[in-house]
Amino acid sequence: MERDVIRRGRLTGERTGEMMHFLSSMGADRYIADADILVDIAHVLMLSRQKIIGYEPARQLLTGLLDFYDNGIPAAAFDDRFEDIHAGIESLLISTIGEEAGGRLHIGRSRNDEVATCLRLRVREDVIRQLSILISLRQVLLNLAEEHIETIMPGFTHLQYAQPTTLAHHLLSHEAAFSRDFQRLWGALSRVDQCPLGAAAFASTSYPIQRELTTEMLGFGGVLENTMDAVGSRDFALEVLSDLSIMMAHVSRICEELVIWSSNFARFVELDDAFCSTSSIMPQKKNPDIAEVMRAKAASVIGSMTSALAITKALPMSYNRDLQELTPGLWRGIQDAKHSTRLLIDMLSTATFNSSAMAAEAGKGYSTATDFADMLVQKHNFPFRTAHTLVGKAIQNGTLDLPSLDSAAREMGIPPLSTTGITPSDVSDALDVRSSIDRRRAPGSPSPFAVKISISSRQKVLSEDSAMLDKRQTSYSDAIQRLIRDARKEAGL
Ligand code: ARG
Repeated sequence: MERDVIRRGRLTGERTGEMMHFLSSMGADRYIADADILVDIAHVLMLSRQKIIGYEPARQLLTGLLDFYDNGIPAAAFDDRFEDIHAGIESLLISTIGEEAGGRLHIGRSRNDEVATCLRLRVREDVIRQLSILISLRQVLLNLAEEHIETIMPGFTHLQYAQPTTLAHHLLSHEAAFSRDFQRLWGALSRVDQCPLGAAAFASTSYPIQRELTTEMLGFGGVLENTMDAVGSRDFALEVLSDLSIMMAHVSRICEELVIWSSNFARFVELDDAFCSTSSIMPQKKNPDIAEVMRAKAASVIGSMTSALAITKALPMSYNRDLQELTPGLWRGIQDAKHSTRLLIDMLSTATFNSSAMAAEAGKGYSTATDFADMLVQKHNFPFRTAHTLVGKAIQNGTLDLPSLDSAAREMGIPPLSTTGITPSDVSDALDVRSSIDRRRAPGSPSPFAVKISISSRQKVLSEDSAMLDKRQTSYSDAIQRLIRDARKEAGL
């Protein structure tokens, strides 16, 4: 059985299974095991280039590491007896290739810079994946908007009918939010993409290491300079979790709408059966369970963010073991966000929107009352507040027609509308739902005219974002391929 090579010198005393289970980060380290091999390989290549280790130990170390890379890390490296995957891999390597070479892996570094580098590599990959899911999600919303340019529906404020709009306009509002989520995560990526390697425990090292070299080999955007900051900071994780929390708040808002819209009293949408569950007792039930779980997942991601903030907020510089407790929540938050957004794409693209139910509701609740007040301002030079009061009083009297408006005018002591030349057809024209929408033509408005312009400009932004993301993704994967190629060459494989 491989001994824990880190502990054997300084400490004695058996540790119980419970102690080890409590202390070990092995469960969460599964997420960074592959990244750890890459970080080890880059470190060894740098040690060899800088002549800090000789050719033969470098060859043996790289051969062992490439074996793990090609054939998988042996299960024994994940044993809970090791405090973490870094100890597991180093111990395994020493027991495979011997201590003469294996014992040189950890020259000039610490698990502190090692783990920070692994976390950043893995989070970088996860952020790239999340950004590409956001691209697909935005595309689905734009496609649906395109289909529903003419689909009229009630628009809400306070969940009360407010003014008529179109489904396209509503969907574009969600696309706008997800597009900002993309921008936020893209911004966070540049701060994730910094390399802490070479910081060692916190004070770097006296070996002639070259930090720029490992930074470049791992495809990082730059060196995370101050070595105390490099090992002690986790704000890159806080930032990603915050951005994901905001994104999940947006996911949750759509889910809330889908839950309401799919209810019997609204019938605005029919979700695909696959996204619904039924009741164990009520055979007729079709419940929007996936949307509900997604709404709750938003809370879990917010939980990961708040626990991460609380863990870091009072830590003295530099590394403290508390930081280890941040990572399980980080992976959970990232996974929940990924699964939710992926499922949301399918839930939206398989949903059937009930255009006639939406249209039937669009004019209810005096939803065009504002249009009537606006007509009085535009055609009859009313001050807006006078028109607003007049229409409000007519509605309070129970109807929005000429007689009711006339009696409201009398109450207010102003001339009745019928005496100023306003006809019943002027009233019904001003209250017409379709015309109400068509009149709203300013940028970003609900009219088909404005929505078509919005869709094409949003589509352009989306294509630019997508191209920018592809380019970055390729540069990361090229760097890793180059690293492995160089390692094989150096090992003579
Ligand atoms: N498992 C540790 C973590 O996740 C790795 C760093 C351990 N460093 C230390 N000084 N004990 O943070």
